Amino acid sequence: MRPKASILIAEDEAQAREALRALLEDEGYRVLCASDGSEASALLAQSAVEAALLDIRMPGRDGLELLRELKRHPAPPAVLIMTAYGTSAAAIEAMALGAFDYLTKPLNFDELLIQLERAIDNRRKTSELEAYRSEEDAGTGLEIVGRSPAMQKLYKLIGQVSATDSTVLIRGESGTGKEMVARAIHRHSLRGSRRMVKVNCASIPETLLEAEMFGHERGAFTGAAQRRIGKFEYAAGGTLFLDEIGELTPSTQVKLLRVLQEFSIERLGSNITIPLDVRLLAATNCDLELAVREGRFREDLYYRLNVVTIAVPPLRQRREDIPELAAHLLRRAAARLKMQPPTLSEDAAGYLAGQEWPGNVRELEHCLERALILGRSGVLRREHVASEAPPAADDAINGFPIEEGLHAAVARLERGMIERALAASGGNRTRAAEILRIHRRLLYDKLREYGLD
Ligand SMILES: Nc1ncnc2c1ncn2[C@@H]1O[C@H](COP(=O)(O)OP(=O)(O)OP(=O)(O)O)[C@@H](O)[C@H]1O
Ligand SMILES: [Mg+2]
Repeated sequence: MRPKASILIAEDEAQAREALRALLEDEGYRVLCASDGSEASALLAQSAVEAALLDIRMPGRDGLELLRELKRHPAPPAVLIMTAYGTSAAAIEAMALGAFDYLTKPLNFDELLIQLERAIDNRRKTSELEAYRSEEDAGTGLEIVGRSPAMQKLYKLIGQVSATDSTVLIRGESGTGKEMVARAIHRHSLRGSRRMVKVNCASIPETLLEAEMFGHERGAFTGAAQRRIGKFEYAAGGTLFLDEIGELTPSTQVKLLRVLQEFSIERLGSNITIPLDVRLLAATNCDLELAVREGRFREDLYYRLNVVTIAVPPLRQRREDIPELAAHLLRRAAARLKMQPPTLSEDAAGYLAGQEWPGNVRELEHCLERALILGRSGVLRREHVASEAPPAADDAINGFPIEEGLHAAVARLERGMIERALAASGGNRTRAAEILRIHRRLLYDKLREYGLD
């Protein structure tokens, strides 16, 4: 058995403190005690405890001050705050400062022990995730950036679901980082050393989707010259990530549901049943409940997928992350474009933090890429990031300066045409796709890409 954790109790009332000590020692924990905030602070600085039970009101430093101090601690313990004022603002502040939970006095010991175990377990998982974040992800471009309370909550959740094999539905507006979250869950799971295979339910034509998912035998249909392993089979031992799940057509929904019920597949043209060994993650930016009500998405499939939900918050609800995120995205884009990473001026960062970002992180990323290409100096100023259209230079082609680069120019042209078509069709997407002479699905992809949906 793993040795029980060490715990700090900070409680100024001697009787309460000793009762807690006895309880926790009986449970096999190693216990340190402090009778006021200053003593607790000293103990926390010296010794590594896994959890701390902090009274909110203490002489010296109170529990909230200790919590603030712990933010700078390299490996802070999980904190449970004890308060006599359960609904008070202090309890809420404690949560915002990163306490795992708060317990109201008089304490319920059974509840305390359960919460304590959860807190320690959660800390182990999240700190593993953090370690992963900082070591392995640094420089790979997979690092998840953001310290806002909303993101911290997300890390906690990722840590919790990673340890299980349960199906997770990842939801959020487009460009919020759903795929990033899926990758983080996978890498941190028991299947993390195996592969994660992604199926984009929106981009594969329906006629190919089945073959793509389940594979086929040679000659299963015209054009099937060879046997092919489907993605479900290819992901064996690992994770299968079903992206854009809301875009599945009705007939594919039926097929997927059958697979999930039986947890086995058959390649097209074969009647050999292959048991599935995958962990399922799914993502969508659709309102699935509405789709269910409107009969566009099967309710039974919805319940199969929606075992645990993780909601990725839109960027405008975590504006405090924008400066750090912007710097990170700039470094990443500069590396990709083999450019010197510029610095972001304060007024540029301020401008970015004030925007709505309907296309979320992806839109921010595009904005910065464009600014990177336009801003030739080492500092990106407000006018670089704020300019809707770059100033036309003399050598511009149809208003596109050559320095803008092919990618950014094409994107700007594409976006402009899509906006025009949507305006002309009064927002009717099918009609807009007709005007643009592209497939409706492609239009949807583009709308998402440009944050126009
Ligand atoms: N917290 C973050 N830290 C760093 N990069 C991020 C973060 N969130 C998103 N990104 C980046 O933003 C881009 C969009 O992220 P991702 O593809 O995961 O979003 P998504 O929600 O799946 O979008 P869509 O709905 O369009 O499919 C990616 O380049 C990703 O690396
Ligand atoms: Mg995605």
